[in-house]
Amino acid sequence: MKVLILHGPNLNLLGTRQPEIYGSMNLDEINKKLIELGMQLGAEVKCAQSNHEGTLIDALQDARTWADGVVFNPGGYTHTSVALRDAISAIQIPVVEAHLSNVYAREEFRHVSLISPVCAGKVVGFGWRSYMLALRALTDLLNSQIST
Ligand code: DQA
Repeated sequence: MKVLILHGPNLNLLGTRQPEIYGSMNLDEINKKLIELGMQLGAEVKCAQSNHEGTLIDALQDARTWADGVVFNPGGYTHTSVALRDAISAIQIPVVEAHLSNVYAREEFRHVSLISPVCAGKVVGFGWRSYMLALRALTDLLNSQIST
């Protein structure tokens, strides 16, 4: 089983970016935890981050050729990007949306996700643990697809 963990804009600043909202763990530390969890769950995990919408679209399209599923935190693009939504619809592998913060407890514009309707599911509000929960859910889903 192969999984892409994809982080969107500004998530490269985790650790120093508004730690009261996003926590104090940096992206490398989170990725390391995800790779370790992946090994326990029988998944090979690759991690990528970009601040650019087109690069994120390229990564999603590329994932179609090698990954069984994706955990995706599109950052601010969650609330604006039709193009990312279209990319998720196009690739036909399950994508689980993940957010560190509880977007529903924040500004109203963060309550809207253009990508949720085309994702397999989503996890919000558990800090770095949102990614871990999303990876668990995705591997579970992929395993159930294999066994049914
Ligand atoms: C975020 C929530 C978004 O609203 C915000 O723009 C981010 C991070 C999260 O992980 O909580 O960049 O996706």
